[in-house]
Amino acid sequence: MGYRSPLITVMINAAYKAAKALVRDFGEVEQLQVSRKGPADFVTIADHKAEKTLVAELRKARPKYGFLLEEGGVIEGEDTSNRWIIDPLDGTTNFLHGLPHFAISIALERDGKPFAGVVYSPVMDELFWAENGQGAFLNNERLRTSGRRNLEECLIATGMPYKGRDNHPQYPQMLDTVWSTTSGIRRFGAAALDLAYIAAGRYDGFFEFSLSPWDIAGGIIIVREAGGNVTDINGSGEMMKTGNILASNGHIHRELSEVLAKV
Ligand code: IPD
Ligand code: CA
Ligand code: CA
Repeated sequence: MGYRSPLITVMINAAYKAAKALVRDFGEVEQLQVSRKGPADFVTIADHKAEKTLVAELRKARPKYGFLLEEGGVIEGEDTSNRWIIDPLDGTTNFLHGLPHFAISIALERDGKPFAGVVYSPVMDELFWAENGQGAFLNNERLRTSGRRNLEECLIATGMPYKGRDNHPQYPQMLDTVWSTTSGIRRFGAAALDLAYIAAGRYDGFFEFSLSPWDIAGGIIIVREAGGNVTDINGSGEMMKTGNILASNGHIHRELSEVLAKV
């Protein structure tokens, strides 16, 4: 069992608390699927409610820290070196369609860098967590990225660019190249879990464009603490700014980056 510091304990408790209502609401969504209006408004309410719970819990424990929230935007804190970066529901489309693949993502950014992360998948009851220098864990088990070095044996996750977001005309060709050089591609629809799964050695690589800081901040530290590598798709360290992310077990990082760059 990994050492759970007071900081990570605060984060985990906040995630568990918000998850309770989220799971109840997920049960409701499954009922609402059959109605003509559908569950969209209901999901928006569930999402905002989860964020409110997270903010209240984290603020109680660390009153001076600021926030970067997907729904609520920026809340400045008295302490300018620490802020929470939160996605209360990553995988909204899955949630909306009754697919149980979604998560709460909480990161603590310290002096501009992800310092601690919690990504919690409540339906699976899988809690991924990491703190700088302390290792990464799934529930109580230590995580290690996969040992695969041969791209042909690697399973690669991705997310497809959304219509209306930054245009990435090269993306279909990237998919084409990646699926012909690896053992397969997965698109499960929750970036925070894509990263957590790299940490767990389930995927060997992951790439996506135009993500937001709340999609990736928690996952980045979890991947790094599990021994993996995270960069921008071009190999730079700017992924929190550009939202273009490449994460891997480390062994295939350069090769995968080169494969993508060739397109
Ligand atoms: C989305 C998910 C998805 C990714 C999208 C994100 P949301 O987050 O992480 O996997 O492809 O780009 O916006 O909207 O479900 O929080
Ligand atoms: Ca998200
Ligand atoms: Ca979200």
